[in-house]
Amino acid sequence: MTPPGAPVRVAVLVSGGGTNLQALLDALHESPLARVARVISNRPDAGALARARRAAVPTTVLRDANDPAELQTALGDAQLVVLAGYLKLIPASVVARFRDRMINIHPALLPDFGGPGMYGRRVHEAVLASGAKESGATVHFVDEAFDRGRVIAQERVPVQHGDTAETLAARVLEVEHRLLPQVVLDLARRIS
Ligand code: GRF
Repeated sequence: MTPPGAPVRVAVLVSGGGTNLQALLDALHESPLARVARVISNRPDAGALARARRAAVPTTVLRDANDPAELQTALGDAQLVVLAGYLKLIPASVVARFRDRMINIHPALLPDFGGPGMYGRRVHEAVLASGAKESGATVHFVDEAFDRGRVIAQERVPVQHGDTAETLAARVLEVEHRLLPQVVLDLARRIS
């Protein structure tokens, strides 16, 4: 049971370097509303795990990210789940348990430039190849398909003349680091 007024327990799923995780750790540090309670990765070498350990947050490395039972156990008593650069599909039974309590951040303006295989620099390359004048970051609820759930928040950035996937990614990432903690705190207010 959660004592009244206790911070909402947030589990963060990661596969990579974890700059979004870091933004969450920094924003929630000593927050009365929410705290990062556990960081879970499908990859033992994810840089995000080192960030969690530095912040003294417990970590779990999944043996099989496709095993719903293992993921359910790892999530434990989490009240809110954040996918922050997590590259695996969430099994349907886990989606069902956390319906409207599990969110993902994507580095483009969904529904464009999302879906299977659309991650990392591929997203930004596709945006540049399309000639789009804008990109941005999207936070959305997680459903059974990659990048498809209901959008919660989006913020736009301009695509600039001469942009590469790297310069565009950096501009989007800056926005991500602001947007994700904002949404987590908003949801935490509603849950608590
Ligand atoms: C971010 O661009 C995020 O939108 C996407 O994966 C990237 C993760 O970066 N889902 P990091 O691991 O948080 O630095």
